[in-house]
Amino acid sequence: MNVLEVRDIKKSFGSKKVLEGVSFSVPENCVFGFIGRNGAGKTTTMRAVLGLLKTDGGEIDVCGERVSYGCTPKSGCIGFLPDVPEFYGYMNAREYLTLCGDITGIDRSTLKSRCSELLELVGLDKEKHRIKGYSRGMKQRLGIAQALINRPKLLICDEPTSALDPVGRKEILDILSTAKEQTSVVFSTHILSDVERICTQVAFLEGGRTAFSGSIEEIHAMKSDTALELTLARPEDTGRVTATFPGCTVSEGKLIFPKASDSDQAELMAFLGAQAIPVMRLERHEADLEDLFMEVIGK
Ligand SMILES: Nc1ncnc2c1ncn2[C@@H]1O[C@H](COP(=O)(O)OP(=O)(O)OP(=O)(O)O)[C@@H](O)[C@H]1O
Ligand SMILES: [Mg+2]
Repeated sequence: MNVLEVRDIKKSFGSKKVLEGVSFSVPENCVFGFIGRNGAGKTTTMRAVLGLLKTDGGEIDVCGERVSYGCTPKSGCIGFLPDVPEFYGYMNAREYLTLCGDITGIDRSTLKSRCSELLELVGLDKEKHRIKGYSRGMKQRLGIAQALINRPKLLICDEPTSALDPVGRKEILDILSTAKEQTSVVFSTHILSDVERICTQVAFLEGGRTAFSGSIEEIHAMKSDTALELTLARPEDTGRVTATFPGCTVSEGKLIFPKASDSDQAELMAFLGAQAIPVMRLERHEADLEDLFMEVIGK
């Protein structure tokens, strides 16, 4: 069963259309990358999923339960880390987590072991200082622990890595990757390398719509977007190749054959061999997340 189903949601603020048909599904125990530029509508979508925003249309189901404005799912199966989490700075991490657990009604003995387990997961188990002295990365890690306190089936994190340095980002990505054993994780970002590191599923938000939604394998399987890059040993041979293969372009001394199939490659190699044109390098450039993102945003 999918933990989250978002179907065709729409939202305008006054005359400004922000979401014009956003749809995607999140399976169990996966890490899902929700990708979009600044202002694309990522936070707006997440607020709608949490029941914190009234949409103008569409449907959202979390764990099979319909989400409506003002009513978070009764099963309490969502955990949320906002983009700028706020804490009581005078508390330490354990005190803060205990408070969160108390509020959600977890009994004291379960809560003690749950806090220890979560503090260990986020690497704050040895930390005794007050939260007000924490770095941004430490606050994000505590925020993840807080969001997991109620054993949610869905953890939503709004740009958890955007403000962090590479070390802090890696720590968060490792924690989210581990957390997928107990929950599905949806995190929004515009950092594509973070997505490639830990996500198995993605959705691109562009122009108020989901321009692409699917698995990372589906992106890599888009063989039609594979390009060949040919570097000739003698630049003076370039004209002979472009005359025979008019679809290719020349860029920075390389001949680029966009969308080259296996048979296109075989044809090119046969031509180069027959013409005795020496080759310095022939590379296949597989479509990656960045290529696809640039394509969907029309760059
Ligand atoms: N309450 C609101 N009233 C008016 N406009 C809003 C409101 N909330 C969001 N918007 C507008 O909706 C658009 C999408 O905002 P949103 O915060 O969802 O984008 P985002 O993808 O999360 O961006 P970022 O990467 O900067 O966090 C923006 O143009 C924003 O100004
Ligand atoms: Mg945002």
